[in-house]
Amino acid sequence: MNTLIVLAHPEAHSYNAHLAHTSQRALEAQGHQVRLSDLYAQSFAPDEHARHFQRRADWSRFDAQTEQRFSSREDALAPDVQEQIDQLLWADLLVLQFPLWWFGMPAILKGWMDRVFVYGKFYSSQRRFHDGACAGKRALLSVTAGSSQAACSPDGREGDTQLILWPIHYSLHYVGYTVLEPMIITDVRRGRVADDEERQRLLLTARLVEHASSFQSLQSRRIVSFNAREDWDEQGKLRPGAPVHSPFIRHVR
Ligand SMILES: Cc1cc2nc3c(=O)[nH]c(=O)nc-3n(C[C@H](O)[C@H](O)[C@H](O)COP(=O)(O)O)c2cc1C
Repeated sequence: MNTLIVLAHPEAHSYNAHLAHTSQRALEAQGHQVRLSDLYAQSFAPDEHARHFQRRADWSRFDAQTEQRFSSREDALAPDVQEQIDQLLWADLLVLQFPLWWFGMPAILKGWMDRVFVYGKFYSSQRRFHDGACAGKRALLSVTAGSSQAACSPDGREGDTQLILWPIHYSLHYVGYTVLEPMIITDVRRGRVADDEERQRLLLTARLVEHASSFQSLQSRRIVSFNAREDWDEQGKLRPGAPVHSPFIRHVR
């Protein structure tokens, strides 16, 4: 199996970087091929912008989807985007490794998605979800949170972290990925006093061991459920009686 790990963290010695390297070693130990794409190390430009397009379908007005589709067809995408696409297409498994920042992913990773999931190549209105370009591939979020496990739970003060990840999961599903249940590592913060600091260090070191072992059971990891094509009516609304997998898409009386 080929795996691409995309790391979004500005510090090479961060816990997130350790997690990314731990995942890489765990997968390589099972005989898999792994590539690591460290977005900060590459100074990946996250802002989708006209300057990234050397050739244009329309020079009078910049429309991101129009230009993405045009450049993709003309084989004229920006080299940094093309490189990421080649890695994505090579990978059977995509792992996104990032810290939770303001209840979402860091801007560099959001921008990576904006630029790399190219319209016309990865998805279109005719080709998305189960027909998206990444159909048959799997994706997994590995996310750290500074807050405690209790605070990140469904009745916790920080909101249900699993639910907060839904828009990212849905984006991956949109381009065709089968999405695995995320790995959420809570309590990733510095201790406040020396004692606390040592306890934190031990806890986080133990979590790295757990993280590595969770890659042993990847084949049996639960899959995030989404609605199937037949669950939608002509207007794109949930048909009566269709299953509900998340509060984001639900029946309305
Ligand atoms: C800009 C910013 C926003 C953050 N927002 C959240 C948040 O919404 N929820 C949370 O639990 N922690 C939040 N944190 C804490 C980080 O998630 C935490 O520091 C990180 O997961 C620790 O991993 P690291 O040591 O690899 O940086 C935030 C941190 C930063 C810098």
